[in-house]
Amino acid sequence: MKITVIGTGYVGLVTGVCLCDIGFDVTCVDVDDKKIDNLNLGEIPIYEPGLGKVLARGQERGQLHFTTDLPVSVAQADIVFIAVGTPQGDDGRSDLSYVETAARQIACSLEGQTLIIVKSTVPVGTCTRIERIIARQNPDAEFSVVSNPEFLREGSAVRDFKRPDRIVVGVRDAQARATMEQLYASFTDDGVAIVFTTLETSELIKYSANAFLATKVAFINEMANLCDSVGADVEALSEALGLDERIGKAFLKPGPGYGGSCFPKDTLALTIQAQEADCPVHIVESVVASNSFHIRRLGKRIAEFCARSWHDQCNGNIDLSGKKIAVLGLAFKANTDDIRSAASTVIIPLLQKQGANIVAYDPQAMETAKTAIPDLETAASVIAATRDADAVLMLTEWEEFRDIDWASLVPAMRSPVVIDFRNLYNRYKMAEQGIDYYSLGRPAINGEQIAAQSG
Ligand SMILES: NC(=O)c1ccc[n+]([C@@H]2O[C@H](COP(=O)([O-])OP(=O)(O)OC[C@H]3O[C@@H](n4cnc5c(N)ncnc54)[C@H](O)[C@@H]3O)[C@@H](O)[C@H]2O)c1
Repeated sequence: MKITVIGTGYVGLVTGVCLCDIGFDVTCVDVDDKKIDNLNLGEIPIYEPGLGKVLARGQERGQLHFTTDLPVSVAQADIVFIAVGTPQGDDGRSDLSYVETAARQIACSLEGQTLIIVKSTVPVGTCTRIERIIARQNPDAEFSVVSNPEFLREGSAVRDFKRPDRIVVGVRDAQARATMEQLYASFTDDGVAIVFTTLETSELIKYSANAFLATKVAFINEMANLCDSVGADVEALSEALGLDERIGKAFLKPGPGYGGSCFPKDTLALTIQAQEADCPVHIVESVVASNSFHIRRLGKRIAEFCARSWHDQCNGNIDLSGKKIAVLGLAFKANTDDIRSAASTVIIPLLQKQGANIVAYDPQAMETAKTAIPDLETAASVIAATRDADAVLMLTEWEEFRDIDWASLVPAMRSPVVIDFRNLYNRYKMAEQGIDYYSLGRPAINGEQIAAQSG
């Protein structure tokens, strides 16, 4: 089976490269010439652990190709994946223009029976719309459209694609189902479950999965805020909740709100589709509101934390003018360079507006961050970013940040304030080093408590 993948972003590239790795001949297509030129040189346009090795294997075997020539690659394919972006439109709905353009382009180039697999996350009804677009554009085309949403996570995309918890497939006809069974045979042989269902259900499964996970994140963030207010500890709370098998441990770590290219746009798009179906999803609407409130509230609390340590006047109007805040972490989570809807893109402009001088460091996302925050000053290392800082703000849970030797950094800082929105450190150890340490949902500690702890 010859496979063509349209779109070589986080999903399309991983899909194409991994399908090639299990033996298929794959051509990946993109409109971005530079991306394709680089990929042909073996250079990966994104940071995704392990992807480079798998890509090199496919290229060495001569079974992985990159091109901008969509018509030729579609004409020769038995299977065409649509994996283009579906970003949030101005009205909050998914912008389907890339998907529709791809569908029109595919329609004009189809030769022989072709299976068109929609990997992009699309609202219910989109696969049917794609069927209509293609049939209208090319009435003689022989094709089936299948929904096959992707659940991989950036940062562990290769592993997630190769060992998914399940594969979801929405189909209309038996022939399409048989081809999907053949495509994923090596996965099912390894025990991976496939859920076959209708196009509509498959489309909705993707949105419900993301909405459910986003709900867990928003929930634990609200609990962390409540812990702060009533003097409870979110770490013990989260551990106890997670030990209940009905709840599960995943996605119960407080942080600066969910971000990235999926949860924010998918939760919002789901609420809009549900409203239009006259069946509002009130829980998801609250999750969207809760998350956006949480990020902004944290953005405002930074000045409050700083003022506590700097003994400034609070009076509701805290001045950060001329203060240097070192931001560690720009990506929306660790192990990716993706900054789409990252907390950094909301919080940094908020701090800059309050007059703060921001210097940021991220192991992988500094270049991508500059596209979203054009005037962002970056530093080459943690040491350079934190030198002379009045406060340090932790936004991403990169492994290298967990190992920071604070004792060596603090003497070079103007003020030993660390505001940690990822709860990376032990509060007592930070306090022992003379650091004013603020984290989420864990009571701040003072000298007397340290003495009590060590005594
Ligand atoms: N990123 C994730 O973690 C993730 C996970 C699961 C699902 N998804 C979904 O997968 C889809 C793709 O997401 P992504 O993050 O890979 O997007 P992306 O923006 O990283 O990549 C999209 C790519 O498609 C290309 N493209 C657009 N129109 C094209 C056309 N007509 N022909 C050829 N190439 C074209 C763009 O140039 C770009 O390289 C979205 O619907 C997203 O919601 C994303």
